[in-house]
Amino acid sequence: MTGEDFHMSRRLILIILAAGIMTILGACHSNGVSDTSTVLTEPIETDITGGEFKVLMPKGFVQAGQLVEIELDRKDIDFEIESLNERLLVDGKSLRLPDDAITGERFRFLVLSENKRIEAEIMVANTLTATLLEDGKVSNPNALDVVINKSRSLPEDYAPEDLVTVQVPTCLPNPEIRQLRKEASEALFNMFEAAKKDDIYLVARSGYRSYLTQVSLYDGYVNNYGQEYADKYSALPGQSEHQTGLAMDITAESVGLQLEDSFGDTNEGQWVNAHAHEYGFIIRYPEGMESITGYLYEPWHLRYLGVELASLVWESGLTLEEYFETLE
Ligand code: DAL
Ligand code: ZN
Repeated sequence: MTGEDFHMSRRLILIILAAGIMTILGACHSNGVSDTSTVLTEPIETDITGGEFKVLMPKGFVQAGQLVEIELDRKDIDFEIESLNERLLVDGKSLRLPDDAITGERFRFLVLSENKRIEAEIMVANTLTATLLEDGKVSNPNALDVVINKSRSLPEDYAPEDLVTVQVPTCLPNPEIRQLRKEASEALFNMFEAAKKDDIYLVARSGYRSYLTQVSLYDGYVNNYGQEYADKYSALPGQSEHQTGLAMDITAESVGLQLEDSFGDTNEGQWVNAHAHEYGFIIRYPEGMESITGYLYEPWHLRYLGVELASLVWESGLTLEEYFETLE
C-alpha cells in the first residue's frame, strides 16, 4: 500500500466513523423527524444526501476564519443552522470558522427545516498554499498547525505570547530554551508522566529559541562544521520550528543527554516513536526523508500539533509536508 493509498483509506475510515457517530446521535432525537448526515469538506465528500434534500458544501477545504455558506439542493425549502460547537459561529445561512481552528479540527452543526434535521460536520484544513505569503513568510505564525521549513519562514520579530517554563526535567541552563507555548508544555508534561509509568525517563533539552538564539546556533554550526553540514541539521534563523515555541528536542541518560541518531533505537526513543502522537507530538524529521523535510533524521525533535492533527499525521505515515500536500 502506498502512502497515498494509506492516507485515502484512513480518510475513508474517518468518514465511516463520523457517519456512525452521527447515526447514534440521530437515534437519540425523539421528535420522529430527525435525520442524520455527515458532510466533510473533502473533495470526495462534498455533499451527502439527507433524504428529501441535500446539504451542499463548498468544494475543497475550509480554512480557519472562513465564512462557509451552507446551501440546500432545493431552493424552495427554508432552513436554519444551529452550531453544535461554541467555537463555531452561525451568521445567517453561513458558518464562521474560528480564526484559530487548526487542520484536522472538526465542527458539527445542525441544518433544521420544518420537518427535518440534518447533523453535519466540516473539517478544517489550513493548506500550505493558503498560509504562505508572497515573501515566503507564513500568514499563521501563531497557529498550532503552522508549517515552517526551508521555504516557509516566520517573521523575524515573531515570538509566541504564551511561553511558559516546562515542568519536566531539563539538562541545559539557558532559561529561554526551557520554554514552550503553554498548551505544548502541558502536553509535554503529560507525555513525560506517561512515559515514567512505563519506566521511561525522558529529559527535555532545547525548546523555544528566539530568532537571535537561532542566529548564534546556526552561525556556530557553520563555524565549526561548515555550511553544508550546518544546513542539514540547523535551520536558518526564521526557519526554525523552535521559534514557534511548539518544538522540543528531547533526550535521555542512555545517550548521555545528547542529541544523537542512536536515541531512535533506545527504549526511550522507541517509546516516543510509538506514543508521542497520543500527546499531540510528532517526530518531525523522520529517517530517510531529508529530500522532503530538508533535514537529516532527528529522532529527538518533537513538534506539537495537538492530539487530533498529530494522530492524523502519525496514522498517515507521512511527513508533515506530505500530509499537508494531500490536502491541497
Ligand atoms: N534542528 C532543526 C532543524 C532546527 O534547527 O530547527
Ligand atoms: Zn529541534
